[in-house]
Amino acid sequence: MARRLQPTLGEIGEAARALRAGKLVAFPTETVYGLGGDATNDRAVAAIFAAKGRPSFNPLIVHVLNIPAAAQHAELSAKAQAVARKFWPGPLTLVLPRRRDCKISLLATAGLDSVALRVPAHNIAQTLLMMAGVPLAAPSANPSGRLSPTEADHVLADLGDKVEYVIDGGPCPIGVESTVLSLLDDCPRILRPGAVTAEQLSELLQEPVATETGTEDANAPRSPGRLLSHYAPSLPVRLNAIAAEAGEALLGFGPGAPRDAVNLSAAGDLQEAAANLFAMLRKLDDPRYRAIAVMPVPETGLGRAINDRLRRAAAAR
Ligand code: TXA
Ligand code: MG
Repeated sequence: MARRLQPTLGEIGEAARALRAGKLVAFPTETVYGLGGDATNDRAVAAIFAAKGRPSFNPLIVHVLNIPAAAQHAELSAKAQAVARKFWPGPLTLVLPRRRDCKISLLATAGLDSVALRVPAHNIAQTLLMMAGVPLAAPSANPSGRLSPTEADHVLADLGDKVEYVIDGGPCPIGVESTVLSLLDDCPRILRPGAVTAEQLSELLQEPVATETGTEDANAPRSPGRLLSHYAPSLPVRLNAIAAEAGEALLGFGPGAPRDAVNLSAAGDLQEAAANLFAMLRKLDDPRYRAIAVMPVPETGLGRAINDRLRRAAAAR
């Protein structure tokens, strides 16, 4: 069973040593908990895929300390630098051309000539990156296709027998995964919606930013977060519910939700709702119920990321 570490310098240092030795460590970020391994170590990266049961054609996000560290692995165009300066550290992943001398394991990038990089804003993640001194491949610390973890207990329950340590940083403040932005072509494209919105990116770049909300072929996905069925609890999920039907649990949103519903945000606050999303879905994913009914969430700002995850949770499996 994994050991739970407290976020002291001593214990984060112990986790950093384990990472350098090729072991896996789960750690908190501002979005969700990541399942981290040394991105330059093929065996550590292979262990991440094995622990998650993730198909190896689905590339991983690599976490780095800052923009200069990112520039060691990827080509940063002027556009990429502008976006990085504005939104890093933060909940944004950039898909960029891989540098020819990039030391990141080819397994982590699934043999692609691109790499997905992110500078996390969480103190513990920053300290761990600094102490480990290597880039960290870290997908969300959940079995492939299931709900992402936003608390250390979620990781211990799902992957406790597969990691060395889980650093307990309490609940993740944002609660949904980072926005994934591809800057590979002339037109910037969002491959996965998150806390950094198309509007914010478009305003900075002074050009339209497309969101590819479409789903794709499971045999050749560009972004596994885009697979139709993903982020799924065990129970079926019914969207746009007005009330619970017999045997259903109800996940509400806003002041109009019934008193007895579990409410993503009684105040109708999308940030609060995102932070609660995965933990509340987990709580309702209980065999006492036959399904989870979810009330509508507005399709604006963070609501787009929330609805993206809910649609995938509700998709046929
Ligand atoms: O918030 C997050 O991003 C979390 C925390 C732990 O940082 N990490 C996370 O990683 O969600 P992961 O590996 O579960 O999600 C990776 C996403 C997927 O949608 C993947 O397909 C996409 O990034 N991705 C990775 N490399 C890519 C590439 N070269 N081209 C296109 N998409 C890529
Ligand atoms: Mg994931």
